[in-house]
Amino acid sequence: MIKANFVGSCCHPSPRSRVICAGGDCNIKYAIQGQNLSYSVTVKKLIGVQKMVFPILKDCSLHVPVGQLWMLLGPNGCGKSTLLKILAGLLNPTSGNVIVRKPRSFVFQNPDHQVVMPTVEADVSFGLGKLNLTADEVRARVEKALKTVGMSEYLQRPVQTLSGGQKQRVAIAGALAESCKVLLLDELTTFLDETDQMGVVEAIRNCLGGPDQVSALWVTHRLEELKYADGAIYMEDGRVIMDGDVSNVAHLISRKQADYLAS
Ligand SMILES: Nc1ncnc2c1ncn2[C@@H]1O[C@H](COP(=O)(O)OP(=O)(O)OP(=O)(O)O)[C@@H](O)[C@H]1O
Ligand SMILES: [Mg+2]
Repeated sequence: MIKANFVGSCCHPSPRSRVICAGGDCNIKYAIQGQNLSYSVTVKKLIGVQKMVFPILKDCSLHVPVGQLWMLLGPNGCGKSTLLKILAGLLNPTSGNVIVRKPRSFVFQNPDHQVVMPTVEADVSFGLGKLNLTADEVRARVEKALKTVGMSEYLQRPVQTLSGGQKQRVAIAGALAESCKVLLLDELTTFLDETDQMGVVEAIRNCLGGPDQVSALWVTHRLEELKYADGAIYMEDGRVIMDGDVSNVAHLISRKQADYLAS
C-alpha cells in the first residue's frame, strides 16, 4: 500500500552537483538548503518526433533555518511543487545541490490522499512498524503526535468521518510520530474552509521546534497565511525572485497584484 505522507529516503544529486557552503549567514543552522537548483524535462514536440528540453526550475537557491516555518508563493505553474518535490527527494535536480535534514515528510494537497488506514490511531502508527518499537512506545508516539496537532480526542475515529483539515492534521501527526524533522507541505489548505484552515495553521505552528527541531516549508496561494510564517520565498517562471522577510515578500505580491488589476 502506498501512503500519501511518507518519510523521504535520501535523494541522489545529479553528477553535476557540488559540495556547498551554506548561503546566507553561516552562523545560522539550516534545515533546508537548495543551491543553484535547476530542473528540466525532455518533451516531444506536438508535431513530429523532435524532442525539446523544457526548463522548469532555473538556478533556484533557498535556505530555511532550523525550527522555522517558511512559505513558498508564486503564480500557477511557476515551479513551486517541482521545487518541493526536489527538496523531498522525489525528483532529482538536473543540476544544483540539496541538503535537507532527515527524516523529512511531504504532505500533499488533497486531504483524501493523506490518510489510508481505517482509524486515526492506525493511520498515525502506520509508519512506525519499521522502527522496531514496543507497543507502549508506539502508543506514546501516536498520542504525543496527535496532541501536537490538536487531535487527541480523535484517536479511535474512523478516518472517513474526519473533515479535510482534520485529515491533513492526522497526516502531519503521522510524520511527527516518525520523528520527522522537515515538513514539506504543498497547498494543504486549498480545499479547506476557514475553520479547517486555521486548525491546520495552528497544528503546523505547534509542530515547530521541540526536541526534533521540526522545520517546515509550506506552499500556499493564500496571502493571509503569510502572517504565520517566519520567512517567505516568492517564485516566478522557475526562478526565486525574492526570499527572506515576510513583509517584503507580501509587499511585492500585493504590488504585482495591483499592477495586474490596473493593466
Ligand atoms: N513531468 C513534467 N513534464 C512536463 N512539464 C512539467 C512536468 N512537471 C511539471 N511540469 C510543468 O512545470 C511547470 C511547473 O509545475 P509545478 O507543478 O511545479 O507548478 P506550481 O507552481 O506548483 O503550480 P500550481 O500553483 O498550479 O500548483 C508547469 O508548467 C508544469 O506544467
Ligand atoms: Mg503546485
